Amino acid sequence: MSLVVINEIAKLREVIKNYKKEGKTVALVPTMGCLHDGHKSLMQKAHSIADITVISVFVNPIQFCPGEDYDKYPRTLDADKVVAESAGVDIIFAPSVNEMYPNLNKFSDLTMVVPPYELTDIMCGKSRVGHFDGVETVVSKLFNIVQPDFACFGMKDIQQLFLIKKMVRDLNFPIEIVPCPLVREESGLALSSRNKYLSPEQKEIALSLSKALFAIRDAYKAGIKETKKLFDVGLTNLDKNVELEYLEFVDNDTFKPVESITKTTICALAARVGGVRLIDNIVVEV
Ligand code: PAJ
Repeated sequence: MSLVVINEIAKLREVIKNYKKEGKTVALVPTMGCLHDGHKSLMQKAHSIADITVISVFVNPIQFCPGEDYDKYPRTLDADKVVAESAGVDIIFAPSVNEMYPNLNKFSDLTMVVPPYELTDIMCGKSRVGHFDGVETVVSKLFNIVQPDFACFGMKDIQQLFLIKKMVRDLNFPIEIVPCPLVREESGLALSSRNKYLSPEQKEIALSLSKALFAIRDAYKAGIKETKKLFDVGLTNLDKNVELEYLEFVDNDTFKPVESITKTTICALAARVGGVRLIDNIVVEV
């Protein structure tokens, strides 16, 4: 089957209803486009587990905070089609903002899905207030529109993945969430659509983010378990031009900060390089 791009919710519903009538299973990969090999690995996973692979390409205005890069976020649908086709995607759902939010000018009117405060008052949620409300709201809408059997999310956005898994449990979405490993450049840099903003010099500086995480893993393997000490190991490995936003050690099951780490602890950071906000993480012993 060749790739189709659908812009309207009603049309997408009709197409998917017909596939479901034929007994086909559907996997969804929500994205904001500007697709790279990280996204591609999710699409390939989706293609391997379901009959029909749908991706959404939608830069979701309500998950950007005031002053963030919503306007300049790269929109590259033509190139995205090529990547999607090469990964076996059947349908790209690329709605307009008006199709998704007909009343966005009356933002306060929108029904939102809001994750628990204690899970968003840390890491990315703490600095991007309201971000995960926007994410959970758009993902819920996409789940209701597509009604997939599976939905693939990357471990790159580890807090997002945790919150989506919880949302699906709490709100009884009949969807299996499929976590997919974080994909890096050979240099170690985590792939991100925002890497496009980096100059070659800034990219060099950004390499120290993964270097810091790998140094923490090495120190853990050498016997250091205390997060205070591991935090310092991380700091020493960060380039001095990196503006660190957070470096946290959280439990894999609860997302609560830990003082002493185990092999399933998540070590995550966010930082700015030349004003570009980047995130990265490792599961300590993977
Ligand atoms: P976006 O940043 O486009 O990411 C879409 C999906 O790709 C997410 O599940 C993300 O974790 C995954 N991804 C991005 N870079 C990755 C990498 N290097 N390795 C593995 N997976 C990677 O996340 C969003 O969009 C939005 O918040 C969205 C869920 C679409 C809601 O608007």
